[in-house]
Amino acid sequence: MEREMEWWISMPKVELHAHLNGSIRDSTLLELAKALGEKGVILFSDVEHVIRKNDRSLNEVFKLFDLIHIITTDHTTVTRITKEVVEDFASENVIYLELRTTPKRNESIGMSKRSYMEAVVKGLRAVDAVDVNFAPHYLGEGNDICNGTTKKKIFVRLLLSIDRRETTADAMETVKLALEMRDQGVVGIDLSGNPTVGDWMTFLPALKFAREQGLSITLHCGEVEICLTSNIRTGSISSLDVHHFGDLYHAKHPLILCTDDSGIFSTSLSGEYILAASSFGLGKKEMLELGRNAIEFIFADDEIKRELREAFDSAAGTLEL
Ligand code: IMP
Repeated sequence: MEREMEWWISMPKVELHAHLNGSIRDSTLLELAKALGEKGVILFSDVEHVIRKNDRSLNEVFKLFDLIHIITTDHTTVTRITKEVVEDFASENVIYLELRTTPKRNESIGMSKRSYMEAVVKGLRAVDAVDVNFAPHYLGEGNDICNGTTKKKIFVRLLLSIDRRETTADAMETVKLALEMRDQGVVGIDLSGNPTVGDWMTFLPALKFAREQGLSITLHCGEVEICLTSNIRTGSISSLDVHHFGDLYHAKHPLILCTDDSGIFSTSLSGEYILAASSFGLGKKEMLELGRNAIEFIFADDEIKRELREAFDSAAGTLEL
């Protein structure tokens, strides 16, 4: 059983749909909530069971996000959770991560959308367990090319999310920020948030502008990124037997397995691969191929695609299939 788990962890993986504040370790979230409880900002006993609860409806998930944002939205914490989230993905052999997050303003602590994002980038720079390549031509300290160590390497690119509760002006501010931060690993814009809130037309001007300026765009709207556990937990699909993964896979439609919110849904990308393999009767060879196909849909450049293909090909030669 353990050897089996090790196999899935050692398989290289590409994660294209992960929300920063949805991917926080439970232990970190509880620790931060406790600290805020001690400061009297929140009542820990009120939030503990909300954090620990596993089965949540879609609306409860978005209520939990509001709570998480109260707990995490200060610069030091944003830096910490970014570092931990990247380390967690790298520890299960995610070799390319597109991490999305909603830049937030919190005037009471002097936080602007820009300073929020600077705290995220600081978190990327702070990772030391693994070499992080987050910006074009970036050679991090301790990068294996520089010092000859054999540390694992992860490519990280950022997507700035527009929350469906935001205004047209907010959305435009996020797109302008993304453009200014292109040299710090920002490659695109995401539209996310509670699907029952807001109107597409509010965001159209900002999304059009983003596209005209060459940013990639991803929308929460029937996307082909498949997050099995998230779909089940939020009740958007009643059971895996009727999940559209099977039909799309057999029709050879492009599919990418992702976590969505590994913290909120207590999952991991390796776990999602195991779940897909067992639910849809797929073998390791097919799963490795499925993972490799994700490379074709990343927002980073061709040089990175080439490196990722090499990593998968080398794994195909060494992993027992
Ligand atoms: P953040 O952008 O880093 O704060 O990550 C949490 C945010 O991502 C939430 O507040 C939502 O706006 C968005 N999000 C996370 N999961 C989902 C989802 O399943 N559907 C739509 N939006 C989501």
